[in-house]
Amino acid sequence: MNPLDQLTLDQLRERRSFKWAHYDADVIPMFVAEMDVPLAAPIREVLERAIAIGDTGYPGSWPLVDEFVSFADRHWGWEVDPRLVWPAPAVIPAYVEAFAEDTEPGDEVVITAPVYPPFTTYLRQSGRVVREAPLTDDLRLDLDALEAAFEAATAPREGSTERRSAGFLLCNPHNPGGTVHTRAELEAVSVLAHRYGITVVSDEIHAPLVYSGAEFVPYTSVDPRGIAVQSASKAFNLAAMPAAQMIVGEERRSWLARFRQGAHGHPTYLGTVAGSVAYREGDDWLASLLVGLEANRDTMLDFVESDLPGVTSSANPSTFLAWLDFRGTAAAGGRDLGDEPATALLKSGRVALNPGTHFGGGGAGHARLNFATSPTVLREGLARIASVVTG
Ligand SMILES: Cc1ncc(COP(=O)(O)O)c(C=O)c1O
Repeated sequence: MNPLDQLTLDQLRERRSFKWAHYDADVIPMFVAEMDVPLAAPIREVLERAIAIGDTGYPGSWPLVDEFVSFADRHWGWEVDPRLVWPAPAVIPAYVEAFAEDTEPGDEVVITAPVYPPFTTYLRQSGRVVREAPLTDDLRLDLDALEAAFEAATAPREGSTERRSAGFLLCNPHNPGGTVHTRAELEAVSVLAHRYGITVVSDEIHAPLVYSGAEFVPYTSVDPRGIAVQSASKAFNLAAMPAAQMIVGEERRSWLARFRQGAHGHPTYLGTVAGSVAYREGDDWLASLLVGLEANRDTMLDFVESDLPGVTSSANPSTFLAWLDFRGTAAAGGRDLGDEPATALLKSGRVALNPGTHFGGGGAGHARLNFATSPTVLREGLARIASVVTG
């Protein structure tokens, strides 16, 4: 059964989460990364039981780590030593705190734009300077741009000969557009990172959402000095119950021991319960979801090709977050949507996408579209986009 085809628009409108509460009721929300699915049955049951008996305290044990280790082995053949895993409150605090351990306020962290906007906001809030290394036009890592950014980020301060510490926050798979980085690309990143002494943190929250034909490569499987952050929260739609795992490479054993001494918070108890069951009993549900998402991805690509003249889309071998380029609409005889197409789409089409400029350099003229919804809602949202583009 396709989890994306279970809820009607009226049922979805009863939701009060950000996706469904933020805009007026006449807007089709295709922005924030929530999915329009019911919970997988085993997750719903375990949460219902916990709520029924008031089991809503702090986490007391860590089945989440063991279940993640088993999931990683089953899905990616990735053998993770549970002693190299730290249960993190959520993905964002995990990468912020990893960089806080290895860099000083004022040091730089490189990101590959266009990228998930909180990369920039949270790094800046924690006192780091964000340096963008642009992706290529087809959203792949540009190794020359990355090397130039690493070189600049570690350049000694005036009056010093010592290179500065710096970080690289990798998005693997990439949000937006779902680029799945290849083993060769990640190995090249690892070589560059070692050359410049860069701490690499790989945000792998979208890893379970890789479609047929593409292969997810865990970053720490190519770089023993790397750090990865994983969570069940995107693939199983569990943002309401935060929990994540930080996994460090083999050469960071003592680093992790030192890190653990700090006061870093912990996941929510319900997040560990939901995440454990997702990893242990969610394979069938996830497989059905991937079939549904891949079909939606294909519907979206066909629609862009046939009904959105002058618009192009990322090919999305993973994630439900497409990156649409509207810069060619006027040349194709349609309406010029300017630097921020999301503004006109919302105003005249009543369909909400994420504004492209929020994703950093390369975002002007673009918008991000979330296609994790029912085929009916997807078609309605796409039709509204077409009415604006061709109107
Ligand atoms: C790449 C990426 N990282 C992190 C997050 C958020 O993670 P968390 O809510 O666990 O902090 C998202 C949410 O969409 C995301 O797309």
